[in-house]
Amino acid sequence: MSREPWWQTTVIYQIYPRSFRDTTGNGIGDLPGITEKLEYLTETLGVGAIWISPFYPSPMADFGYDISHYTNVHPMFGTLADFDELLASAHDRKLKVIIDWVPNHSSDQHPWFIESRSSRTNPKRDWYVWHDPKPDGSEPNNWLGSFGGSAWTYDEPTEQYYLHSFLPEQPNLNWRNPEVQEAMFDEVRFWLDRGADGLRVDVAHFVMKDPGFRDNPPVPEDWAEVFKSHGAAYDSQLHIHDKGHADNHLLYRDLRALLDSYSPERYSVGEIHIADWDEWASYYGEELDELHMPYNFMLVHSPWQADEIATRIAALEAAIPPGAWPNYVLGNHDDTRLASRIGRHQARTAAMLLLTLRGTPTIYYGDELAMLEVEIAPEDQLDPWGRNTPGAGRDGCRTPMQWDASANAGFAPAGATPWLPLNEDWRESNVANQLDDPASILNLYRALLAYRKESAPLLLGSYDRLDSPSGSFLYRRSHENATVLVALNFTAEPLTAELPTEGTVVLTTEPGEIAAARPCMVELRPYEGVIIEAT
Ligand code: NOJ
Repeated sequence: MSREPWWQTTVIYQIYPRSFRDTTGNGIGDLPGITEKLEYLTETLGVGAIWISPFYPSPMADFGYDISHYTNVHPMFGTLADFDELLASAHDRKLKVIIDWVPNHSSDQHPWFIESRSSRTNPKRDWYVWHDPKPDGSEPNNWLGSFGGSAWTYDEPTEQYYLHSFLPEQPNLNWRNPEVQEAMFDEVRFWLDRGADGLRVDVAHFVMKDPGFRDNPPVPEDWAEVFKSHGAAYDSQLHIHDKGHADNHLLYRDLRALLDSYSPERYSVGEIHIADWDEWASYYGEELDELHMPYNFMLVHSPWQADEIATRIAALEAAIPPGAWPNYVLGNHDDTRLASRIGRHQARTAAMLLLTLRGTPTIYYGDELAMLEVEIAPEDQLDPWGRNTPGAGRDGCRTPMQWDASANAGFAPAGATPWLPLNEDWRESNVANQLDDPASILNLYRALLAYRKESAPLLLGSYDRLDSPSGSFLYRRSHENATVLVALNFTAEPLTAELPTEGTVVLTTEPGEIAAARPCMVELRPYEGVIIEAT
């Protein structure tokens, strides 16, 4: 339909590989499991790209975000040959594959860190961030680890501290050392040369630190924390010296040049949790020469109210530089499941919102089924953050994909024990039975994805909000002479929205009959969303 870059017109689907499909019976998903489900992704659901969370060798202190070998596959996930097969099969189906790149830290079991730790004079010493103690022996500054405790761990034998923005098992690489950049870029080339279509950059704004290692100041009293609380101590600091350093931009300009040296076009999306929209948007680059997109978590963190959401979208649209492309995400492997945050009925409205806004959407695996958060007590959490900070646990949003009503929900062979418990509703709510139910949310996602694919206004059109009754959200997407209106009711009451033009309702989030559409007016049932083609 268009000559726009593929990453602007696609829909991304995030796969947490441990939980997608286990073909071996060890209770943990694997790469052949993803390959097996490609038909579901492309034919049944209709997405255009997948982002796979880390599948590299790792001691799994942070479930793969602690990498001990950047250019291989953990045996529990398969082999490099399995990755190649997955990529080839995906490409046969015109599905793009985005891999996770974790530049901020490696595992403490990575050979680079083992060497670095071995002595102060080791050539790899300066590949990580080492610092002398203060004269009283304490940590070099007040920086904290995101999962609790200090960001510094003392290494007795070499009498220095090393920095880790997350667990002690995740030492920070020293990106101020050019050898580190060279080595890490080589690891990127390895995957791009194999054919990977892009990178999701883990905690992209954490990588460069204040070279003076200054203390973070305390949070001003009137500060409202926008993102999920990391724990009282962490949230009591303004993270201006350990996150979001301006030198990150140099790194992403270099990364972009590397990506741009490949054909066909490669893509990057950075995980960037920054509350200030202008600073967040700076990661597109002044010349749009940094990341293709900083991930936008606004819908994950927003109260589920029409006005709040519309206001945030306006702020985002105003903040992004000319020519930059927006994106939206409703859930991921670090946050409470969408359907549990906002309710299953509202998850249908959310699906229409996500797939009709201007920008690239990302769907988190299982959200197309409205999978629920599984309650896992802090003492039973496998997630290190959940164990350190009760309430912050992420196991509940990472439970196995619910494929069908056979043993282990079709996630793992009969007799296997899934690494996390299944949601207890798996027999009633799974891909197989939702496909049979015309009213299911899965069939709504399918319809939305199919419609979006053919709709120039939704793929490419302008966005503007129109007046509508309180509790509803009405917007127009126009491209050339085609216009689509989207009307969403966020309330449990029926509402009537006036339209600026006559139109025909072509899709509704509500099962059953399409709501009666009158010229210039649309009646919305509770929580209903409709797409209207202007006539
Ligand atoms: C962000 C990832 O999304 C999260 O799962 C991980 O724990 C941290 N980065 C550390 O790598």
